[in-house]
Amino acid sequence: MVKIFVTSKISDSALNILKSVGEVEVWEKEETLNGQALLDKIQDHDAVLTMVNNFITDDILQNAPKLKVIGNCGVGYNNIDIASAEKHGVIVTNTPDVLNDATADLTWALILGIARRIVEADKFVREGKFTGWLPHLFIGNLVYGKKLGIIGLGRIGTAVCERAKGFNMDVYYYNRNRLPIEKEQALNATYADLDRLLRECDYITIHAPLNEESHHLIGRDELNLMKQDAYLINTSRGPLVDEQALYEHLKAGKIAGAALDVYEHEPKIVEGLLELDNVILLPHIGSATLETRAQMAELAAKNIANVLTGKEPITPVTK
Ligand code: DGY
Repeated sequence: MVKIFVTSKISDSALNILKSVGEVEVWEKEETLNGQALLDKIQDHDAVLTMVNNFITDDILQNAPKLKVIGNCGVGYNNIDIASAEKHGVIVTNTPDVLNDATADLTWALILGIARRIVEADKFVREGKFTGWLPHLFIGNLVYGKKLGIIGLGRIGTAVCERAKGFNMDVYYYNRNRLPIEKEQALNATYADLDRLLRECDYITIHAPLNEESHHLIGRDELNLMKQDAYLINTSRGPLVDEQALYEHLKAGKIAGAALDVYEHEPKIVEGLLELDNVILLPHIGSATLETRAQMAELAAKNIANVLTGKEPITPVTK
């Protein structure tokens, strides 16, 4: 019987899919498996269902000769050495689409949260500082009717864009490839190059994948282009932003604020960011809803089951 390893507890429905095709072992502890400990677990397995915090390195792939498929439970797959997987004939799959709405919702929570200073204001109340209405208490910025810049108008960027209609926003987007005109019209989104988007938008949100080209897509020079009253939101991957440069811009008040769900050296955060009020910091929870996590696990499990039974994976990753 084929052996499948799962690096975290998953829903029963996903587990049942895996159990229908093989013998399943689940890592039940909270501690994240990586390095030698992960290799020890998967070296004689045919399949592994990973989370985005399990790093499948070249070393692991070289030493897991039976491995046929890695079902990554995440749309991002920068935790897996794709070139090495290809070299070793291991199929890698991810979980696109099922997390679009959860991530777009969280992006909007961050846009509104940073604009209206929700976290700061909540802390103020909890600290017993609220002594009554005051005319200048926690003045924020309007979101309705402003200009939204979306970097990466893929699946999640599109879900964010659709929600902007309710806020009557002017949407600019920047993408590696411009979308067909009909799609632009349907979304009411205007293509802009990155410089223009950064110069003109009030809220700039990143939804691009992490790869060699997108590393530090938003660096010091790009931050310098942003307006002093603009905000940066990142729910994609941390290394797209030069976090040290972002910290310096926030500290110096060169931009109004930022809201981050992901970090350049996760889980480490650039020293100093924690001290600033004009930033919201979340612990990578973009897809963290009950429904979404169950759907992600099910899709990862179906991908694995398909490969192990000789069928095509539903959502394979290609380099
Ligand atoms: C993803 O799917 O890539 C998310 O970041 C994990 O929740």
